[in-house]
Amino acid sequence: PSFDTIIRGGTVATAADTFACDIGIRDGLIAALGRDLGDADRVIDATGLLVLPGGIDSHVHFAQPSGPGIVMADGFESGTRSAAFGGNTTVLPFCVQQKGQTLREALKAYHAEAHGQCYVDVSFHLVIADPTDQVLGQELPALVEDGYTSFKVFMTYEGMALSDMEMLQVMSVARRTGALVMIHAENFDAIRFLVDKLEREGHVAPRYHAVSRPIPVEREATHRAISLAELVDVPIMIVHVSNGEAMEEIRRAQAKGLKVYGETCPQYLVLTEKDLEGLNMEGAKYVCSPPPRDKDSQEACWRGLETGVFSVFSSDHCPFRYDDPAGKLNPKSRTSFRWVPNGIPGVAARLPILFSEGVSKGRIDLNRFVALSATNHAKTYGLYPRKGTIAIGSDADIAIWDPERRRTLTHDLLKDGSDYTPYEGIEITGWPVVTMVRGRIVVQDGELVGEKGFGAYLAREKSPYAAPRREF
Ligand code: URP
Ligand code: ZN
Ligand code: ZN
Ligand code: ZN
Repeated sequence: PSFDTIIRGGTVATAADTFACDIGIRDGLIAALGRDLGDADRVIDATGLLVLPGGIDSHVHFAQPSGPGIVMADGFESGTRSAAFGGNTTVLPFCVQQKGQTLREALKAYHAEAHGQCYVDVSFHLVIADPTDQVLGQELPALVEDGYTSFKVFMTYEGMALSDMEMLQVMSVARRTGALVMIHAENFDAIRFLVDKLEREGHVAPRYHAVSRPIPVEREATHRAISLAELVDVPIMIVHVSNGEAMEEIRRAQAKGLKVYGETCPQYLVLTEKDLEGLNMEGAKYVCSPPPRDKDSQEACWRGLETGVFSVFSSDHCPFRYDDPAGKLNPKSRTSFRWVPNGIPGVAARLPILFSEGVSKGRIDLNRFVALSATNHAKTYGLYPRKGTIAIGSDADIAIWDPERRRTLTHDLLKDGSDYTPYEGIEITGWPVVTMVRGRIVVQDGELVGEKGFGAYLAREKSPYAAPRREF
């Protein structure tokens, strides 16, 4: 036979086009697009289905040390399994440097965690928590050349927050090396001030997490991050944008011609701060940073997706178990929201939510869905055109979707290591029925058929999106 697999009769969509065509796959690559491709060892009938580039989730957290006694609910096995169930073929988790640790030490630990465990392909962003002279001068530039072409910095969190001076230093390394800086934009001192004040007043329930990080905290940090990047003339990605005011900062920068990119996530489209008000400790299930806001913020985030201010839509999957002393309900969590681990699971729910709320409800078209779910992630982070599109020569990373399939989101559909989903009960129209990584089926009709360890580590290219404008 000419091909290992032919996907026949489907409607193919890329970020640009929608067309009826068959796909011939050979040696893990897309080898032909057309009609009457001949024979193959296996034919997948995609009649009535959509054939899309596999999802790329460029913002997930797996196996991250999360403080004394706290255990993240997903390592690389369950995290990449859940990703595959949600129609994803590549994920980009973070390799987090601890204070006092070198980047290479951190990478060694994460590679050891990931090795032989993954169902889908994986690449790492670095988190720079300790930008010593050695890190900035030697390690980071060398690691960019090795294929770690993006790094995240935090403007908040104890032990993670960088000063403005350190942010500028990291940005200038990124400019010099052609890497992309991702920024968690919240004002650390403002949060500390508000947390102390709320605790003194006895406001310690999970809902006060949202009160301690209101919109101005995020808007100010977003503005500051953009200003610092403008000083250095370096492209940046503002991650997990939760509201219209922070989004307007990004829009304004883009209108000035700055290479400032934005990301939003499902929690900012379908959750609100009201969810943090659940009975007893239920609100802890929704504690993440930035917190979900209100209906107006949801609408603003949709506008950001519709108009292109946000180029990527990621899950920020950061899973903890709820009913677990190593998770949300750890012994200290009842004494203050301060001790509730930040983050929620969502790697499998991301694309069904965007498809259903976005495409099925007519807010975005199918091509924008593909751009937001896959293509723009690949382009932004140096994986394109190997990943993120359906084109001859690209990896055969494909998600076949049934646009009519209805589901009610429940945790057991998502196959992650947590014990709940914050999206429980959401009605979905449109579901991924086959997830294929490099020509191999990983999930089919709700069954895991992939092989643990087939998921590969990807060294990444420098992205054209990260190239400075060279104005100076
Ligand atoms: O609350 C969140 N988002 N936790 C994950 C870590 C991060 O800041 O992305
Ligand atoms: Zn390995
Ligand atoms: Zn963050
Ligand atoms: Zn995150």
